[in-house]
Amino acid sequence: MSSAAQTQADDLMQKIVSLCKRRGFVFQSSEIYGGLKSAYDYGPLGVELKRNLMNEWWRDMVHGRDNVVGLDASIIMHPNVWRASGHAAGFADPLVDCLVSKERFRADKAPRPAVGDELPITCADQGVAKTWAEIIEKRFGVVLDRDGKVLNGLKAISTTEFGFFAKGSTSAAKTWPWRGYVGPTFGSPFLSEERQFNLMFRTALGAVDPMNEVATHLAALTAAPDLATAVTERFGKDAQEGALAAALASGDRAKILRAAIEHITSPAMAYLRPETAQAMFVQFKNILDSSGQKVPFGIAQMGKSFRNEITVEHFIFRSCEFEQMEMEFFCEPGTQKEWMAYWKEQRMAWWKRYANDPSKFQFRQHAADEMAHYADDCYDVEYAYPWGWGELEGIASRTDYDLSQHEKHSGQKLRYTDQEKEDPATGKKPWQYLPYVIEPAAGATRAMLVYLIDAYHEEERRTATGEIEKRTVLKLHPRLAPIKVAILPLVKKDGMPEKAQELAAAFRKAGILAKCDEKASIGKRYAKHDEIGTPWCITIDGQTMQDGTVTLRDRDTTEQVRISMDQAVASVRERLS
Ligand code: GAP
Repeated sequence: MSSAAQTQADDLMQKIVSLCKRRGFVFQSSEIYGGLKSAYDYGPLGVELKRNLMNEWWRDMVHGRDNVVGLDASIIMHPNVWRASGHAAGFADPLVDCLVSKERFRADKAPRPAVGDELPITCADQGVAKTWAEIIEKRFGVVLDRDGKVLNGLKAISTTEFGFFAKGSTSAAKTWPWRGYVGPTFGSPFLSEERQFNLMFRTALGAVDPMNEVATHLAALTAAPDLATAVTERFGKDAQEGALAAALASGDRAKILRAAIEHITSPAMAYLRPETAQAMFVQFKNILDSSGQKVPFGIAQMGKSFRNEITVEHFIFRSCEFEQMEMEFFCEPGTQKEWMAYWKEQRMAWWKRYANDPSKFQFRQHAADEMAHYADDCYDVEYAYPWGWGELEGIASRTDYDLSQHEKHSGQKLRYTDQEKEDPATGKKPWQYLPYVIEPAAGATRAMLVYLIDAYHEEERRTATGEIEKRTVLKLHPRLAPIKVAILPLVKKDGMPEKAQELAAAFRKAGILAKCDEKASIGKRYAKHDEIGTPWCITIDGQTMQDGTVTLRDRDTTEQVRISMDQAVASVRERLS
């Protein structure tokens, strides 16, 4: 992205973030205490928008179909769920800190320059470059060549070594071991060791605080003359296998203590779910037995998920606590390709239905080396965010991996019996098999950001008096808009506020969210409701008091029509549906 495009993208995001705070869509969590990074609170308008969006998804995915049922599972599940799914192990990504900039990043995602490449460190500005050059001189004993905000002189000698080359010299004055990658933002090769970091949030279940037990064990272990012997004696057979055995073999005191603490606390450990999906696999049999569904059928769930994300970015695009809308569609093995085509078409149509600009949604098929090991195909629904194309929903063909893993770890049979079909292996009825799964998995909070970006418009119009008038308007789809109708008495007298309340009560009775608004001039009230995406404003004026008519103003065209007040609810209901 060019720097002009970057500035434009930052500018747009800043405007949206500012509107969200000013108008009560999204606030930084715990703001009065300085805020909590990567956690957000959804204010009076935000909670309506998020709920409307999730309700639309539920209406389409569950209520709109005979072969999909819903589930609302607990956030904390049995820890073995995450061992079976692979999250307990697979969620551990190696983390690295840059020793100069303090940037923290995932080693597996870092840029890998080729052997022989220069390794310039690109700082934020010249002042930072001067400071970092001094840090490097002090800590690593070399003076890098400063060119504006870039520090030169480092080069990749091999995949395991980099060195400092003084200007014009072909031999390295000093070398360091290297793991073949640099920090993603500044390009620094001066990095810490890789450390494991689990993306799942841990918590402890039970009345007894496991930290007491840790303290008791550690007091005894650290007082012993030899830690390894004390650990071996204390944990017996458990010390001969797994992480504890590996730590003992390493001889590293810190690793042994860490493994001992993990071992002591693991029986009480539970995790906040990092995806809503696993509950649908774990409850597959119960739902199959109780709902009367037959394969092919789906189980849908929406709700909170938690990931201790290393990089939280772009406002609510990636946060540690977020909401998902996921559906597991169980189908006969061999039919997964046709169901993938079906769900791709269905999901893309759903996203576009609520958008002003459908051209900003596209599919991206995952390359073979990008796909999860259990998937045989995967597509992302991508959106053209201000910073570029990025994921909004993943549609994965997950084979029978999850059900087979849960069968293995739980010891329970999760097979489906089709009495009408012959088993292809034996040629005999019935056919018992583990269904294959197509999973459309979308982020609800991310979707909210997408529709805010899509809806945000700045417009200029010539007024009746010939002046140029600017307005900011959120062109949210009426079904997503937090408030459907604003009812505006022209003045705060002559019975108009009472008429407005009367009409608002009629809307409430019809289940349509309407709000009376009496503050400020009528022009300012229109501007406010344009900015928060209210699709219709109804004005009660002098004529209303005489002939019972009101004006209905359309947010997007700003055109007004005069209708009977008695018809107002029916008219809005018709437009909404
Ligand atoms: N069960 C599959 C699964 O969870 P995923 O691609 O990791 O797949 C699905 O997540 C969707 O959830 C993503 O496409 C994204 O919209 C949303 N999502 C994932 N991590 C998120 C985060 N940290 N913050 C906000 N949304 C997130």
